[in-house]
Amino acid sequence: MYRIVQPKILYMGRGALQGLEEILRLMEPRRILIVTGPTITKLGIVDRALEAMGSYKHRVETFINPKPEGDVAIVEECAQRVRERGYDLIVGIGGGSPLDVAKGAAVVAVHEEGMRPLLGRDRLMRKGIPAVLVPTTAGGGTEVTQAAVVHVPEEECRKSIWDPRTMAEAAIVDPELTLHMPPRLTAETGLDALVHAVEGYTARDGNPVSKMYTSEAMRLIGRYLGRAYRDGSDMEAREAMARAATLAAIGVTNSGLGAIHALALGLDSREGFNHCRTLAVLAPWVMRFNRVGNEVFYADIAKDLGERVEGLSVEEASLKASEAVLRILHEVGMSSCLKDYGISEDELRPLALRAHMVGQRLLPMNIREVSEENAIAIFQEAFGT
Ligand SMILES: [Fe+2]
Repeated sequence: MYRIVQPKILYMGRGALQGLEEILRLMEPRRILIVTGPTITKLGIVDRALEAMGSYKHRVETFINPKPEGDVAIVEECAQRVRERGYDLIVGIGGGSPLDVAKGAAVVAVHEEGMRPLLGRDRLMRKGIPAVLVPTTAGGGTEVTQAAVVHVPEEECRKSIWDPRTMAEAAIVDPELTLHMPPRLTAETGLDALVHAVEGYTARDGNPVSKMYTSEAMRLIGRYLGRAYRDGSDMEAREAMARAATLAAIGVTNSGLGAIHALALGLDSREGFNHCRTLAVLAPWVMRFNRVGNEVFYADIAKDLGERVEGLSVEEASLKASEAVLRILHEVGMSSCLKDYGISEDELRPLALRAHMVGQRLLPMNIREVSEENAIAIFQEAFGT
């Protein structure tokens, strides 16, 4: 038996934003709170969403998170606003951070004890305010996951409320909203989607449906991320990447993450890094480690990512999975070496040990057991030559 959770309604493809009014008509909200960020507002995307709401736009107020990342304080502030003003629908518009704030606020609003006690797995007592999520990047796929991720400043790491009740009622994945992304952001968010696909495919709790989603996502990313990076106006590539990010996320949220995300937790918040850059320096090396004993999965990954594997043995083909990721990273100008991000050699051991400790909550999902010594070896390999 396995369970698949996803939003009730998904509008996808070019022009999907125009379906917003139709979705609102199904939900009949009285008071709507848009949760977004300053860049998306400046780009005019919030105005486009308001336009697409038709007559519902007169029921809308807006909450803008001024910070680049969502943290516990901002989610609680937003939730407080929801309680005070009685909104009955939240519409999140933006990259991963505004959407995570929107999801977090939707559930924290109905839990008076605040956000901290809810961090962890299945800690929610009740369903939150319904949310409609509109991503403007093609990456984390939070519009279809059962997690609301935030920065926890006192612990210097990211944590999440992981519960099916954080799932949005509806999501609109319109690739036209991703056209604004500069190459760097396209590369970094696309890499997040790639790692979701790889980890979702190999997670311990994977199932045939999560494998179907993540496999298709890898196929699309292997083919289109480089194109979207080189030419941001390439609509075919943007559409493929938007679909890939959402499929990867449905896959991963219904299977589980792995050691790449687990070990990244301890490094994400360090200066010079962000979630996506941390994944870049860990992905190839964790994949090499995970491949041992799981060659069939890694041969599949190599094939999905577009490597030539005809005539190769499973062992030979599996070796090409991490090579494919290194090729993609190279193609989008991202380094996979810790030394390029200002890490010195003598920091490797303490960093690896911290990553191993902080990563404990995700490591059990990984396909291969990771010891402290394994983590140190992975960080040493990630340092670069
Ligand atoms: Fe991620």
